[in-house]
Amino acid sequence: MRTLITNIKQLHQVESPSVAIPGHITRVSGKDMALLPYIDNAWLMIEDGLIHSFGEMGSLADNQADDVIDATGKMVLPAWCDSHTHLVFAAPRDAEFVDRIKGLSYEEVARRGGGILNSARRLNAMDEEELYDQSLVRLHNVMAQGTGAIEIKSGYGLCLEGELKMLRVIRRLKENVRIPIKASFLAAHAYPVEYKEDKAGYVDLIIDKMLPVVAGEGLADYIDVFCEQGFFGVPETERLLEAGWKYGLKPKIHANQLHHSGGVQVGVKHKALSVDHLECVAEAEIESLMGSNTMPVLLPGAAFFLGMHYQPARKIIDAGLPVCLATDYNPGSCPSGNIPLLLSIACTQLSMTPEEAVNAVTINGAAAMELEYEMGTIKVGKKANLILTKKIPSLAYLPYDYGNNNIERLIY
Ligand code: NIG
Ligand code: FE
Repeated sequence: MRTLITNIKQLHQVESPSVAIPGHITRVSGKDMALLPYIDNAWLMIEDGLIHSFGEMGSLADNQADDVIDATGKMVLPAWCDSHTHLVFAAPRDAEFVDRIKGLSYEEVARRGGGILNSARRLNAMDEEELYDQSLVRLHNVMAQGTGAIEIKSGYGLCLEGELKMLRVIRRLKENVRIPIKASFLAAHAYPVEYKEDKAGYVDLIIDKMLPVVAGEGLADYIDVFCEQGFFGVPETERLLEAGWKYGLKPKIHANQLHHSGGVQVGVKHKALSVDHLECVAEAEIESLMGSNTMPVLLPGAAFFLGMHYQPARKIIDAGLPVCLATDYNPGSCPSGNIPLLLSIACTQLSMTPEEAVNAVTINGAAAMELEYEMGTIKVGKKANLILTKKIPSLAYLPYDYGNNNIERLIY
């Protein structure tokens, strides 16, 4: 099966020897984040779901295809890679949203039994079928907005059965939807009520009873911990990450959302694939990321929705580090998985340029879930999971025209 896209106004994020960054790109960092190589007036051939070839319209020789898409006036980009979501959940938390507007903080809501514990009660009361159906609708919605690879976490079960239910739902999504999906095991998201006075007991339960089953059934790709004051401290995080590694689960952790919790340093020390959130980042955290392979993943959608201060993206990029952006799609701190809106927030609030923001949700998003060899750039042999935009004047128009839908469709 061959599909040919012709007359593409601009084909973005192309990787080929003739453009600015030669060689195989696995992530972009520092000043390189400002570069987004593109071809004007381009074509691209898809064969059996992979990028077969591409170039300038003048170079199109072999135009035999089963299907031709005329992209006059439209852009093509690699699909968004959303490397941090909690897309499987049972119910919205709009009442807490109103409580916070009236003055309660996110942490106060959590201390009163709302927040993650509220989501856990709802999830444990819902059957797997309904949870799957709801999650599938959400997944299709974000795909319509251009997401072509996604990571999804457990963490609203907080008991063996509930965590397994979530991870099985993620596995069914993997089986039934043809985009790459990665699963992270996040039982260490909050302490369940029964363990309020026995925190070490809950960590033991995760390590001794949950991890062996989750790993044994191959239900997770990564282990995650909400490393934060009032949640899981550095010593607990270390125990959990060491246990995860024993089962071959790499860490991808929540770090430094609410405090300078030591989460970044502990993530780097335990060779985390990524440390995510990073609202609270200063010199010490940047220092620890320098020279490591751990990807800093910023979740400004959560800072936006909780009315918190934003992540210091400029400081991180100017230090020469890579930046990845992800949505954090979840019912508490960011009930949106809309990446075009995330790009607008990154540009207006984090002072990232449109090119930096697009790099952060394509190649760096792919790297933050180990998909850099199959997703994230336009390269021969990579998956042809592509965004076809509507007619737009420039790449910058995507984040500029915020709140409006300029994605015509995801090709996958
Ligand atoms: O990434 N911070 C921890 N976990 C999620 C939110 C979970 C929730 O409030 O339901 C986050 O923001
Ligand atoms: Fe999160």
